[in-house]
Amino acid sequence: MLAYFNGEILAAEQIAISMDDRGFLFGDALYEVVHVYRGQLFAWDLHMQRLGQGLAELRYPDVRLEGLKAAAVALLREVEDEEVLVYIQISRGVQPRSHLFPGPSTPPTVLVWARPLVPLDAQVVAQGVSTVTAVDDRWAKVWIKTVGLLPNVMAKQAANDQGAFDAILVRDGMVTESTSANVFIVEAGVLRTAPVTNYILPGITRHIVLELAGELGMKVNLRPFSVAEMMNADEVFLTGTTTEVLAVREVDGHAIRRVGATSQKLLQALHRRANQI
Ligand SMILES: Cc1ncc(COP(=O)(O)O)c(C=O)c1O
Repeated sequence: MLAYFNGEILAAEQIAISMDDRGFLFGDALYEVVHVYRGQLFAWDLHMQRLGQGLAELRYPDVRLEGLKAAAVALLREVEDEEVLVYIQISRGVQPRSHLFPGPSTPPTVLVWARPLVPLDAQVVAQGVSTVTAVDDRWAKVWIKTVGLLPNVMAKQAANDQGAFDAILVRDGMVTESTSANVFIVEAGVLRTAPVTNYILPGITRHIVLELAGELGMKVNLRPFSVAEMMNADEVFLTGTTTEVLAVREVDGHAIRRVGATSQKLLQALHRRANQI
């Protein structure tokens, strides 16, 4: 397997991350995951826009994002699968351990890889997934897509340990998102999802699904919802780059009234959009 590392395409085995890399020491790194449909990078510009906002917020030195696309395209020549994920990670670079930022001459560490996406079983997608709720105890800047995902990892593992697919995170009684996807409900034909605040990741798929909903004439309500409102909803579904649009059939053992009617329409619309590019 090949990967892009600091300007070069290398065999994965040749890549060695320094013991002083700030991504390793402090989680001082940002990442993006891009879905590739039939060789085409889907929603690339939106991913780069979000990455750019994160880099600016964390006061990274200028990172030339244009080179990332060329790197991704070069790596995609090696992966022929229909669906692929491109992963991009940028850390603040390498310096002997110190909380303070390194000087401006320290280059960031840039890593890109492309791997085949292993799709969920079609039957799982059709039946919907089971979920559990978990306390959202992440920091207050989760809108920045940092690699500091330990709370997400703990919640996902706890869900898995309970036989569930994912954990839906709850802050002060209100649903924020899941461990790696945004959460939507459908109430009397109206889509509802949490508004963009610092407490959710502004998902690219969420953004596109909201556009598609508009195109399909669906009404949208951007208001936070409680766990009780989610349990009483007609449908619940997740959106994400790898998750796409995925129906939830159960939350904490409670069966959701309906599975798939709206989410399937949106998934098909997403696939139409992805295959047009
Ligand atoms: C916590 C969290 N929320 C939402 C999402 C969905 O975002 P996107 O649609 O950009 O993949 C992700 C994706 O990784 C995520 O990690």
